[in-house]
Amino acid sequence: MTRNRTPIRDSQALHDLDPSTPHTDSRPFADILAARLSRRDTLRGGLSLAATTLFAGAGLSACSDSDNGGRTAAKLTFDSIAGGPEDLVRVPPGYNMQVMLPWGTPLNGVAPTFNGDGTNTAAEQEVQIGSNHDGMKFYPLPAGSNTSDHGLLVINHEYSNSTLFAGDGRSEDADGKPTDPDEVRKDIYAHGVSVVEMVRGMNGEWSMANTGFNRRITAATPIDLAGPVAGTDLVVTAYDATGMSTRGTVNNCGRGFTPWGTYLATEENFQGYQTTQEDPVPEEKSRYGLSATGFGYQWAAVAGDPSEQNGEFARWDTTPNAATAALDYRNAANTFGWLVEIDPYDPTSRPVKRTGMGRILHEGAEPGRVFEGRPIAWYMSDDNRFDYFYKYVSNANWDPADANGGLQAGSKYLDNGRLYVAKFAEDGTGEWVELDISVPALAARFTSQAEVLTYARIAADLVGATPMDRPEWSTTDPNTGEIYLTLTNNTRRSEGDENPANPRANNSHGHIIRLAEANDDPAATSFTWDIFVFGSNASADPSFNISGLTLDNEFGSPDGLWFDARGVLWIQTDNGAPLDSDSNDQMLAVIPAGLEGDRLIRPETQAQLKRFFVGPAGCEVTGVDMTPDYRTMFVNIQHPGGSFPDGPGNRPRSATVIISREDGGEIAL
Ligand code: FEO
Ligand code: CA
Ligand code: CA
Repeated sequence: MTRNRTPIRDSQALHDLDPSTPHTDSRPFADILAARLSRRDTLRGGLSLAATTLFAGAGLSACSDSDNGGRTAAKLTFDSIAGGPEDLVRVPPGYNMQVMLPWGTPLNGVAPTFNGDGTNTAAEQEVQIGSNHDGMKFYPLPAGSNTSDHGLLVINHEYSNSTLFAGDGRSEDADGKPTDPDEVRKDIYAHGVSVVEMVRGMNGEWSMANTGFNRRITAATPIDLAGPVAGTDLVVTAYDATGMSTRGTVNNCGRGFTPWGTYLATEENFQGYQTTQEDPVPEEKSRYGLSATGFGYQWAAVAGDPSEQNGEFARWDTTPNAATAALDYRNAANTFGWLVEIDPYDPTSRPVKRTGMGRILHEGAEPGRVFEGRPIAWYMSDDNRFDYFYKYVSNANWDPADANGGLQAGSKYLDNGRLYVAKFAEDGTGEWVELDISVPALAARFTSQAEVLTYARIAADLVGATPMDRPEWSTTDPNTGEIYLTLTNNTRRSEGDENPANPRANNSHGHIIRLAEANDDPAATSFTWDIFVFGSNASADPSFNISGLTLDNEFGSPDGLWFDARGVLWIQTDNGAPLDSDSNDQMLAVIPAGLEGDRLIRPETQAQLKRFFVGPAGCEVTGVDMTPDYRTMFVNIQHPGGSFPDGPGNRPRSATVIISREDGGEIAL
């Protein structure tokens, strides 16, 4: 038996392991970039319809003040801070911070306490904060209120690593497979989502509360399936021969949410956990990256242990090994890769996987602007090199009476809709191509819409979607309705493989693209687009540093992305390629509506992109939200590489940083 510090070090490493690669776009790309950069005013500003607020009273109504929104004339009131490699958190002068909710924090605030040597048991981990914090959202208490000193933080835990385990790592055999079932259970319980009640005291300090909302959803929690795929043969397993439920959620990365007070946990790299010994691996699995070992978790290696309950380990191996699908886990992979709706306000509710929204390696899932009497659109990313950007449009029209509708509203809006994938054209227009079984290319490949949704990646290949440079989070400008999308990086795009929306070969630093739906219509099938900013180090040649970034705002690998309701765009980074400042990962801010001209970041406007936050050494900065009064900001630190937050000699732990202003004012403005 050996101790091993593998399998997983950080989320960028996950993508370097990903064996699945769709077709690449081989259209030659010459002067399209220059043409695109010289184009002006393709994207419309302004607002033609009144938007209803996603955050009650939180500022979207300000949109009606003027075409550019009532508050976007405001400027960022902090100066860009320096980047740097030190093992500390940097915020601007005049700001306070507090670190809370590190991995292992007991959800009752008392016990079992975290053991710094990794000796907490599986049962203890099941009621402690999970590992590797990621997407996050604040839900005011009571539900539907605008409270800013009491609420629920919902936090994704993307993955786990060796720090979970006592000693130098988990117990493994000579092939690197786990050998200790209790360690595997602890690993399973470190995944998923945390719901944590938080309260701000008179002194401005936040603390955990525990009035019954706190809970963990792990990779073992019973979860319902709903929508067109639920109950079909595609999701029949030995756990549920009716195909109406599954267990657990994994690799919850960017966050999603709804206008009715629920959370959407994304399931990104599930293929890292599930394995198959099939040879060859069928396309339905290989296109999703399933392999013999995944990312090395190999939880099925301890299957058959006398302590195993109800196939808790066996289910991670999807090899057909019994007479029928109801007797094995061949279809288990089809029960992951969905958006998982969670009602944080109802601690007894079961999460629901919404199959109508399609099965991809889900990153963010943010709605566009919400209009009474119109369908609602969610914008969804598939984070893999050369994968795609999707849109789901509800069949139901938004009724504000559903604003606190919980999972029932989820059934209404998320189980019946249409799925689209984006195709970007050279002239700055684009098309949403519907993934419907009525499309001839899809009817020739699939037998039902349930298959189209389950194998959405294959469907998107067949309709010629535009291969992107790893789509991560998207977010909606509350003032203009434009959708912004991070394309984090792609160093495997070679010259000749560029396309207009992904115009850099060897795109080491990534970029952010912006879309505007035709006529502000959530259900539009056409859009216009432009590239908002290109990541770069400051000293790069202007042919690469197209946005003219400087030491004050150079960045690479944009990932987390969020518009607050005042129109401030927050950009978070994940393992950026080398920067001149040698800076750790960071968070920047800009007010796009306040930029002159075409509202793109260019050398003449770049100074308005300001660095607000720098994380500790080795971390990724991911996950951000604010209280409705904009006076408290929550930011997650994932996989710190030094000794954050407990100091030298301690294991690093992912945690949530809480930021406020010393003068109690609104953050950033
Ligand atoms: Fe988990 Fe796409 O970053
Ligand atoms: Ca991410
Ligand atoms: Ca990432």
